[in-house]
Amino acid sequence: MRKTLFTASALALALAAPFAQAFEAGDIIVRAGAITVDPHEDSSAISTAVTGPLGGKATLDSDTQLGLNFAYMLTDKVGIELLAATPFSHDVGVKGLGALDGKFGSIKHLPPTLSVIYYPLNKTSAFQPYVGAGVNYTWFFDDKLSSSAEANQFNGLDLKDSWGLAAQVGMDYMLTENVMLNAQVRYIDIDTEATSNHATLGKVKVDVDVDPFVYMVGLGYKF
Ligand code: NI
Repeated sequence: MRKTLFTASALALALAAPFAQAFEAGDIIVRAGAITVDPHEDSSAISTAVTGPLGGKATLDSDTQLGLNFAYMLTDKVGIELLAATPFSHDVGVKGLGALDGKFGSIKHLPPTLSVIYYPLNKTSAFQPYVGAGVNYTWFFDDKLSSSAEANQFNGLDLKDSWGLAAQVGMDYMLTENVMLNAQVRYIDIDTEATSNHATLGKVKVDVDVDPFVYMVGLGYKF
């Protein structure tokens, strides 16, 4: 009887408390997963040095890469977090300009984001939702024109780097003392100016509100 009671209570304890606590001050959290950048892709009209505003819009498609988070807990509930990823690659397109519509080029970017994160729930909860806000720097590189744009007498493509604010909501679910499931979504304000040169129209430019929603799902480990 005593042995059965002991076994039953040990089992109950194991089921009820698969982990001792979620996060506490000094913890380092590393997460890895699939991350998708889905641009809002709104832009100004495309304008040229010769004609002024010409019309049309720029477009950007979405891309999925390996996302990484590194967080350090300053207190049991507040931490700082860095978002990193392998480089995203997007096609840049043109629409609304008739013959020029379609793929205009491709770009790569890295959007490192530094945030303050806040976990509102008590650390005894296995389910740990959080909110965060921070600053993003997006570095565009490897800007390339498509062969059709080059055939249409464009030369070069450049996107200006962007500083902006970022906001996120996410949740960790502690599977064990150290391993967690994670899902998160963030909004990043990324605004850029894309420029190219045309043989007869001169400098061609368009302001692009990239403003993506960024989704990530993955696993984390608490050190
Ligand atoms: Ni914006």
